Amino acid sequence: MSRLVVVSNRVTPITEGEPTAGGLAAGVLDALKQKGGIWFGWSGEITDDAASVEHTERSVGPITLFTIDLCRPDYDAFYRGFANGTLWPTLHYQVGHAHFDWAEFAGYRRVNELFARALATLVQPDDLIWAHDYHLLCLAEAVRAAGLRNRIGLFLHTPFPAPAVFMTDPAHAELIRAMCHFDLLGFQTEEDRTAFTDYVLREAGATMDEGRLVAFGHTVKCGVYPIGVHVQEVRALAAAPANRRYASRLRTSLHGRPLILSVDRLDYSKGLRQRFIAFERFLEHHPHHHGQVVFMQIAPPSRSDIHVYREIRRELEAEAGRINGRFAEVDWMPLRYLNRGFARNALMPLYAEAQVGLVTPLRDGMNLVAKEYVAAQDPENPGVLVLSQFAGAARELDAALIVNP
Ligand code: ADP
Ligand code: G6P
Repeated sequence: MSRLVVVSNRVTPITEGEPTAGGLAAGVLDALKQKGGIWFGWSGEITDDAASVEHTERSVGPITLFTIDLCRPDYDAFYRGFANGTLWPTLHYQVGHAHFDWAEFAGYRRVNELFARALATLVQPDDLIWAHDYHLLCLAEAVRAAGLRNRIGLFLHTPFPAPAVFMTDPAHAELIRAMCHFDLLGFQTEEDRTAFTDYVLREAGATMDEGRLVAFGHTVKCGVYPIGVHVQEVRALAAAPANRRYASRLRTSLHGRPLILSVDRLDYSKGLRQRFIAFERFLEHHPHHHGQVVFMQIAPPSRSDIHVYREIRRELEAEAGRINGRFAEVDWMPLRYLNRGFARNALMPLYAEAQVGLVTPLRDGMNLVAKEYVAAQDPENPGVLVLSQFAGAARELDAALIVNP
């Protein structure tokens, strides 16, 4: 029987009650919980040994996890280097944060090949391989080189930028050629799909055949499949009496003041710096709100061994201190800044407490926080979502207040 084999760089944590590490982990876990299958990826461990396809196996309900470790040079070149130092900023239009090094791109390819070799030991001929995100753009090419003929698709959780932006990455042609080895490419929005097909048609001499792209001797279908959340499940977590204690602690601490809530991984693409400055300007221009409103930013550290991520963390700590120092009163602290993750059963009731959900990324593939915030609201007395026009979610959540961050 055909099995679903999910492949992503990040697989952990999978334990119920632990915070999820971003939208990919939350979305994949939801999909696999329903259908069951295999989830293959990096263990999160870095070893001093040479790279190896040796994997660890663990089963959680209907999901079997297979993970491999990365050796230090591969981790540095692939994860810290090309994936997060070149691709992530480029895909999010933050080219000022991008650097490039061919040696890191070689490391990126090496890890895609390592994943493919490990998969070759796991998959059966009729298994369906479903790869995820920007870490694995070269996986299909490597899977074919490893001799596998399985159907293989990729879902890109991030935006795909306009061709002129993508081409600032010197490896753009190699990446596009590799992406054309997938049978199916999934994007979050029509804008992302169009940007990709524009590139392939204009720069790589591709043609269209019955809605499919034909390029480099391959045929690839490109689709739009916006990632979502389980609305009923989110609302149930938000309203469950056992979870209400998180909300009551928060409510007690607010003394009846309305709450503006933001929840993001601590990433420069999330627009946190601009958001803090916007809140400061709001307090400056509207003194009658002093003492009347609280802005809470939850932002667990992310990719903290990469320089720009450490830098933005330091900067935000200073900004939070400065803004509070400027406006706080003896009985009111305007900005609460929490550098930690929350389990989902704690986070969903917090969304439900907030009168305003403030979600203002500079760019985001989708932004599940926006959807979770809406789903968590009490339908009798919902809050308001303020949403960046640059989040994929803005294409769907058209009742939000759409802003330019
Ligand atoms: P990204 O994938 O870039 O991190 P998303 O908004 O799409 O952005 O997804 C973030 C996911 O991570 C959401 O499911 C959200 O609930 C979860 N998350 C974000 N911050 C926290 C936090 N502080 N604690 C727990 N979960 C969090
Ligand atoms: C985003 C990316 C995911 C990534 C997650 C956490 O959601 O789309 O691919 O897993 O951030 O980042 P990390 O670097 O910790 O895996």
